[in-house]
Amino acid sequence: MTNTIKINDKTFDIDVPDDMPLLWFLRDHLEYTGTKFGCGAGLCGACTVHVDGQATRSCVLPVSSLVGKSITTIEGLSKDGDHPLQKAWLENNVPQCGYCQAGQIMNAASLLKNNAAPSDDEIDAAMQGNICRCGTYQRIKKAIKSVAYDLAKEV
Ligand code: FES
Ligand code: FES
Repeated sequence: MTNTIKINDKTFDIDVPDDMPLLWFLRDHLEYTGTKFGCGAGLCGACTVHVDGQATRSCVLPVSSLVGKSITTIEGLSKDGDHPLQKAWLENNVPQCGYCQAGQIMNAASLLKNNAAPSDDEIDAAMQGNICRCGTYQRIKKAIKSVAYDLAKEV
């Protein structure tokens, strides 16, 4: 029997070597290329996706370990790129080269899902492992705070 994996609400057969990292499966087999390769060692956050709603680094995660799990990539975060964080990223002109930004947004989305009103320190702690070589950290934080502020008003 072929194992299957759910990605962005679609089901795919896993017919690749057991040790293939999820990132390779996403990019090379499914052409979900929004998720980026940075370090390949779990150190930079460029490859961040959600596994059952939690931010996870896809470069160090064998696809065979994800049978029965639900994966969300940047392509599946929202229907039309209209997740509040994606809108805030545009409003705050966050990206520079853009390479790290899918991972940044996926990590921030997981943070806000777990904590709708994070403090500055909680934002720093949650985002510190996502590296941006262009140094967009201040704009990232501003965008996250703008969404957190709106979410806090709703609760
Ligand atoms: S590419 Fe996965 S953490 Fe750097
Ligand atoms: S925007 Fe260039 S690495 Fe982050």
